[in-house]
Amino acid sequence: MDWIPVKDYDEMIRQAARRMHDVISGELSRKGQAVIGLATGNTMLGVYSTLADMLNKSDLDLSGLLTFNLDEYVDNSGGNVPAEHPLSYRKYMTENFFAKVDPRRGFRLENMRFPDPANPAAYDTRIRDAGGLDFQLLGIGFNGHIAFNEPIQAGDISAEDYAALPSRVIHLTDLTIRTNADLTAGGDLTLVPHRAVTMGMKPILQAREIMLLACFKEQAVPLAKIKAGAITPEIPASFLLAHPRARIIYTTDTITLTEKKH
Ligand code: GLP
Repeated sequence: MDWIPVKDYDEMIRQAARRMHDVISGELSRKGQAVIGLATGNTMLGVYSTLADMLNKSDLDLSGLLTFNLDEYVDNSGGNVPAEHPLSYRKYMTENFFAKVDPRRGFRLENMRFPDPANPAAYDTRIRDAGGLDFQLLGIGFNGHIAFNEPIQAGDISAEDYAALPSRVIHLTDLTIRTNADLTAGGDLTLVPHRAVTMGMKPILQAREIMLLACFKEQAVPLAKIKAGAITPEIPASFLLAHPRARIIYTTDTITLTEKKH
């Protein structure tokens, strides 16, 4: 796994958007289809506007672009929160990315996919049927989670079993609920659902390429633990260490890590 320090947020989103543009364009010309895993969160806001600009300036036909989002909140009735819910990730993706992509590029909104809490396992089948993910974009929770794969005590699950976790409905940890209330709900805890449906560790780790972005100082804590080198269910993002084509891009103006190559 590669560590890529960059000087600031602008540099991070430029590199990430450029790589995503190149993967999409490369896969579309190679096989007529690009299968891209997308993430939400504050980190990604600049990535999506920059990527939309790049795509709009290209002459790509995006009708073969399939996107699989990492996760979505689940409401009390057990379904996905409605698209009007202020924290809906579907709403986030539509507003921050898909609405910014010029309709002339031909992206089909029905090709924007989210896991369904009524049948999460079907998501893994759909990803497999699409040929697997060519690329997965990831953020990192302050507790090291990726998507909503929350940490589990190492004594409670083996690393092997954790890496095999499928897409499923989960209960969010208190830290994630509080963090997401602060970062995305103006501090209103009542807005944050307590459950979510997440892409599993298995389909994420099967992606052919993974790029994790980190730019908040709180993320230095899980990143430093990953740098220490142990793959553990206590830090879900540490599983990227064993991936053949994963990189972590982090901003050195906000995150300080001692340099040690893996
Ligand atoms: C949520 C998402 C994660 C994301 C994390 C960090 O918990 N489920 O996939 O990585 O937020 O988001 P941010 O970019 O706002 O730090």
